[in-house]
Amino acid sequence: MIAKTEEDFNGLKEIGSIVASIRDELVQRTKPGITTKELDNIAGELFEKAGAVSAPKGEYNFPGYSCISVNEEVAHGIPGDRVIQEGDLVNIDVSGSKNGYFADTGISIVVGNGEEILTKICAVAKEAFEAGLKKAKPGSKITGMGKVVHQIARQHGLTVIKNLTGHGIGRTIHEEPEYIYNYNETSDNGLLKEGMVIAFEPFISTLEEEVFQQENDEWTFLTEKSFVAQYEHTLIITKNGPIILTK
Ligand code: CO
Ligand code: CO
Repeated sequence: MIAKTEEDFNGLKEIGSIVASIRDELVQRTKPGITTKELDNIAGELFEKAGAVSAPKGEYNFPGYSCISVNEEVAHGIPGDRVIQEGDLVNIDVSGSKNGYFADTGISIVVGNGEEILTKICAVAKEAFEAGLKKAKPGSKITGMGKVVHQIARQHGLTVIKNLTGHGIGRTIHEEPEYIYNYNETSDNGLLKEGMVIAFEPFISTLEEEVFQQENDEWTFLTEKSFVAQYEHTLIITKNGPIILTK
């Protein structure tokens, strides 16, 4: 959407801070021994308390309030019996709506002491996000954000997932612009606009550049032999710099 009115800004800020606080609470509670379902139940309670609705559940009938993806799972992991272990790479993605406004945020973390490469990809995902943010200006090419994400990844000997992207957001969870690429997609001539609301989410990978769908469910995206970290915020593009709604 294009945020124009004060009501738009306030509505977006409210749901932004709700999903951000749920994300932070889940990160805090992600400790060895807890199951992903137990974590997700916390998300469910917090959504209810805030008078907000989980976007994956409300919009897509996803079997959970949040997406929790562990190790080989990259995105859209379904909360379940999986027990979090020391050293796991865990992605927590929380999106939701309130009063007709939507926000989306996610982060990958390493539980306790993990392999160095896991800590590295999480840090690079954040670095790539911050570099992309500097390109988030009205009138600039959308794909300019992805171009720097890919550059940062390569500087660290890493790459990006090309078939998972950011997206427009605001009045629904996925809207125009359909794709905020994490590389320079030369066919994309779209421009960022004043007030445009986007979810920007670099996916940094150790090796592979595409995820595939798990066979026994219609949600989970996997890689075969890579580790992937994501870092996502919802932001409003403005001439005075992007406003991050999910800090
Ligand atoms: Co997300
Ligand atoms: Co998203």
